Amino acid sequence: MPSNRTRLILKTAAATLVLAGVAGAIGGAVVLRAGWYDIGASAQHLQPVYTLLEQGMHYSVRRHARAVAVPPLGAPAQVARGALLYSAHCAQCHGGPGFAQSTIGQSMQPLPGPLVDASARWQPRELYWITRHGIKMSGMPAWEFHLGEDDLWAVVAFMGVLPTLSARDYAAVSAPAAAPVATPVATPGRAPAAPPSQGQRVASTLQGDPERGRAALAQHACRACHMIPGLSGPETYVGRPLAGLAERRFIAGGLPNNQATLVRWIRDPQAIDPHTAMPAMGVSERDALDMSAWLLRPGK
Ligand code: HEC
Ligand code: HEC
Repeated sequence: MPSNRTRLILKTAAATLVLAGVAGAIGGAVVLRAGWYDIGASAQHLQPVYTLLEQGMHYSVRRHARAVAVPPLGAPAQVARGALLYSAHCAQCHGGPGFAQSTIGQSMQPLPGPLVDASARWQPRELYWITRHGIKMSGMPAWEFHLGEDDLWAVVAFMGVLPTLSARDYAAVSAPAAAPVATPVATPGRAPAAPPSQGQRVASTLQGDPERGRAALAQHACRACHMIPGLSGPETYVGRPLAGLAERRFIAGGLPNNQATLVRWIRDPQAIDPHTAMPAMGVSERDALDMSAWLLRPGK
């Protein structure tokens, strides 16, 4: 049985903690609402803010990459492919042996550093995770929907040999003339759904993986122009909000609403309406099918 004195001390300590928490939250809200923190990328983060974000990023990557299984790395063909992919997709922000990043990379905040030392600071599975998923609120893009699995590992393998390359070696392996077109993310042989027969609800024949589709919608930047249920982002009306699509009889300016039409529209809108302002976004058949499964799921 604690004495009255102990109880008093515990109570005072608890009250102090609660008050400190409330004061901290109020202080934070005031700084936020007043707009005192300079969000411009021309001003660097204050050192404590930078350290906090950087450390948080490290812990998060370490944790999330724990379960990644690493395939054999370092075969010459794999490294050579990685070099070409690196020069096409990474060098503009990260630079490389003997050259700095482009103006885009130089003026970002946080600054994307050279990756020559990345393989010393990160395990291969962590480099894979960063490349695949990107880093939120830093400008490091996620490549999951733009580089296939083998290409992701080729880039990781290349980062492993990067520290050994001179400027001349790098120039030899990354000749821009040979820069490859990224292989689109593998498309297993799934066909789009056949149009549902009259009166059949669109939703009852849905194919594809809606959760994967939600991620694909985010990764193909559809949210830049459309508000989409389940995806956060700005209020925008460049394209119509895509809520309630399952309930619509017609989409894309008058075509009967079904999954096959939607897949066609997402992959090549201008083939359906040559005047539409919606660009073709380089979406694979599988990604479009999964996107349509998310957009057409009932109740949304
Ligand atoms: C649009 C610019 C941009 C492109 C393109 C880009 N990155 Fe990044 N990258 C960043 C930024 C910004 C960071 C975060 C820097 C930080 O947090 O300090 C980053 C961080 C990283 C990191 C962690 C670095 C470290 O040492 O902590 C790795 C690894 C990485 N990128 C790999 C890649 C690879 C591989 C590619 C190409 C497939 C690539 N990046 C393409 C901007 C870019
Ligand atoms: C640059 C802006 C832009 C981007 C990016 C964009 N769209 Fe569109 N989208 C439009 C415009 C404009 C239209 C035609 C006008 C409308 O219906 O809103 C349209 C139409 C549509 C329609 C038909 C809407 C209807 O009401 O019938 C769908 C579905 C659609 N977009 C899905 C997507 C998906 C999925 C992506 C990502 C792969 C995407 N859009 C990316 C601008 C965009």
